[in-house]
Amino acid sequence: MEIKNAKFIISSTDNEHCPTDNLPEIAFIGRSNVGKSSLINMLCQYDGLAKTSSKPGKTLLINHFKINDAWYLVDLPGYGYAQVSLQQREKLHKMITDYVEHREQLYCLFVLVDSRLKPQQIDLDFMDFLGEAGVPFAIVMTKTDKISQSELNKNLKVFKAKMLETWEELPEIFLTSSEKKRGRDAMLDYIEQVLQS
Ligand code: GTP
Ligand code: MG
Repeated sequence: MEIKNAKFIISSTDNEHCPTDNLPEIAFIGRSNVGKSSLINMLCQYDGLAKTSSKPGKTLLINHFKINDAWYLVDLPGYGYAQVSLQQREKLHKMITDYVEHREQLYCLFVLVDSRLKPQQIDLDFMDFLGEAGVPFAIVMTKTDKISQSELNKNLKVFKAKMLETWEELPEIFLTSSEKKRGRDAMLDYIEQVLQS
């Protein structure tokens, strides 16, 4: 899969305002600041396409980027961002869950997880919710440039063991760094497969 062109289309507050052309969508979710927007820019080789920030809570809307005039990458707000009001948090939670549960053209959701951390309850809970809702997903370990390969192997092993406590099989797991452009080919190959299914 080659990304020949990528363009921002629209930011939406809910599914009703999202594009209506029914093209397939591949979306990115995960804790605030985990690197969703950076990953989209890395995949598209287009710095600044999706807005990024060193402070959590940058993406607060559903953002559609049209790829090769044929499908969308969708940047979602992060979950678990504590520095906003309860009301705002509930609004974001509803935006995210409505999108992942009801968006029929959602072909695959990538759940991003910080490769440096031990398994986080909020990520495990979110994946349980996806399982119950029957939403297909794959996992992306982010920021692998910030740890050594041996730490990464160790964290990955712990993460897989934790997942296997509740899941019969593991989803696809990608090891990525937006900084070092690691994992790009593997993710694009996977997206190509998903779009053909
Ligand atoms: P929200 O929109 O707030 O939910 O965050 P996000 O998940 O979109 O994260 P974003 O892409 O804005 O990145 C957050 C911070 O992490 C930024 O300072 C990025 O530069 C940094 N970052 C993201 N990916 C990587 C990576 O692979 N390596 C390193 N070293 N830094 C990264
Ligand atoms: Mg973002």
